[in-house]
Amino acid sequence: MTITSPSPKTTAVSPTTVEPKLEALLNRVETSLADELVPVDIFNEETVFRAEMEQIFTRTWVFVAHESEIPRAGDFVQRRIGVDPVIVTRTGEGRINVLSNYCRHRGSQVCQTDSGNSRFFKCPYHGWTYSNDGELVGTPMMHHAYGEKLDPKDWSLMRAPRVESRQGFVFASLSEEVPTLDEFLGGAGWMLDLIVGLHPDGMRVAGPPDRYKVKADWKTAAENFAGDVYHVPNLHWSTEEIKVSQGLQGTAEIGRAYEFENGHNFMGHAWTKAIHPGFVLWGYPPEITEQFDLSGLDEAGRFVVDHEPPTVGTIFPNLSFIRFLTPATPGGPVSVVTSFRQWQPIGPGEMELWSWQFVWNFESEESAQQAYVTGQFVFGSAGIFEQDDTVAWEGVPRAAASPWMRKEQMNFHFQMGRKSPVDQSPDPDWTGPGIHRNTGYGEHTQLNFYRHWLRVMKGGDAKSAQPAESTQHIEQNGGRA
Ligand code: FES
Ligand SMILES: [Fe+2]
Repeated sequence: MTITSPSPKTTAVSPTTVEPKLEALLNRVETSLADELVPVDIFNEETVFRAEMEQIFTRTWVFVAHESEIPRAGDFVQRRIGVDPVIVTRTGEGRINVLSNYCRHRGSQVCQTDSGNSRFFKCPYHGWTYSNDGELVGTPMMHHAYGEKLDPKDWSLMRAPRVESRQGFVFASLSEEVPTLDEFLGGAGWMLDLIVGLHPDGMRVAGPPDRYKVKADWKTAAENFAGDVYHVPNLHWSTEEIKVSQGLQGTAEIGRAYEFENGHNFMGHAWTKAIHPGFVLWGYPPEITEQFDLSGLDEAGRFVVDHEPPTVGTIFPNLSFIRFLTPATPGGPVSVVTSFRQWQPIGPGEMELWSWQFVWNFESEESAQQAYVTGQFVFGSAGIFEQDDTVAWEGVPRAAASPWMRKEQMNFHFQMGRKSPVDQSPDPDWTGPGIHRNTGYGEHTQLNFYRHWLRVMKGGDAKSAQPAESTQHIEQNGGRA
C-alpha cells in the first residue's frame, strides 16, 4: 500500500562506486563466502560502515515505525534510517511522511523530541518552521531577512520518496529505484502476515521502544536473529537452570529454517513434535486462538502456524522479530511474547538496540499487560535473554579491531553444514515461498543474509532473486546439502 504523496521535496540516491580498498575487502568476502567463511574485518571497519550506510541504507526499504505509534493526525515519532534522523509524521489527511530531521537552513535537527503530536516543527536555531508534511511555512523576520517568501519547493524538508506499509509496519526508502515493498519483502511479507495478521485487528506496539547502546555491529545481531539456534542451549543455559526454559538442548534439532529472497530469513520450531501434538499456534491459549481467523491461509501457511511457527527472523537489513511462550518468573504465569527489534547502526562496531513489545489489538488489557511484563523479563533491556546475547556480541568488533586477527586475516566460521550427518537439504515437499529446511543446523539463514549483504555492498541491485542455494555442499556431501 502506498501511503505518501508526491512533493514537496524528495530525495533519490543513486548507487555509488566502490572505493579500491573496500573493493579489495569485498572481493575477499566473496572468496571467503564461497567457502562459507566471513572475514572478521567487516565487523569494525570505517570504510565498510560508510559503504553500508550509502550502499544499503540509502538504497533499500528500511523499517521506520508501526502505524499504531502514530494513530492520530499530527502524531509523530523520531526515527532513523541508518545514521540519518527522520521524523515519521501523520498529517491531517492521514498520510504518513518520512522527513529528514535536518533543517534546510543550516542543518539543526528541527525535531528534538522522541514522539508527540504537532502540526508544525520549528527549528530551535533560527526558527524556520515546517508543517508536518515537511513544507517550509515560516521564516522569522522574513521581510527584513529575505525580502520575499522563500520558495517551499526549494527549501522544504527532504522527504523519503517511497513510503509503504504492510500489516501496519511502515518502511521507507531513500531511493526511488526500489521495487514495491511487497516485492522487496517477498516471502518475508508472507511470513509477516502469518505473524501479525491472524486477526483482522492486527497487533499494536505495547509502548515506546526500549533503546540502549551495544558495542556490537548491527550485522551480528541481524545474523543472530536470522536463525542462529546453535547458541541457544549454550549462551542461554542459565534460563534452563532457573527453570524459565526447558529443552534448550534440542533447539537446533527442532529448528526449521525459512530462507527468502533479498536476504530475509526466519527460524521456526517444530513445537507439535517436540512438546505435544496440540501445541499449535505458538502455544497461545484458547481465548486468543479462538479469535484468530485462519480461513485465508494457504496450505503452507496453515502448516507453519500450526506446526513450525517462526520463533525469530530478520527482514534485511535491520528489522528482527522474536516470539515464544515463556513464564514471567520461574513457575509463574506464561505468555506468548512478541518483540520486533531494530539494530540501529551508530558507527563501526557499535549500534543502538531498539525493541518494541507487540500485543494483539483484540486481547484484554490484563492479557496484554501480562505479555508486556513477561516480554520485558526475557527481552527487555535488562531481560534475562537479552543480556546474554549483547555480552556475547560485543566480542565480535573487538576481534575485528585486533591487529593480530587482521594480520592473520581471520575468518568467522559458517561451515556447520559441510560434514554434518543431519539432512539439511531444502524440503522438497515445501509449497510455501523460498526455501524450507527441516532442521536448524547448517547456518544457511546466516549465509543467505551475508550473500545478500555482499550483493548490495558491491553495488548490485537491492532486489535479488530467490535465496542462493549453495551447490558446493551438494557436491561435497554426495547429494546432501
Ligand atoms: S538551522 Fe534551522 S533555522 Fe537556522
Ligand atoms: Fe540469543
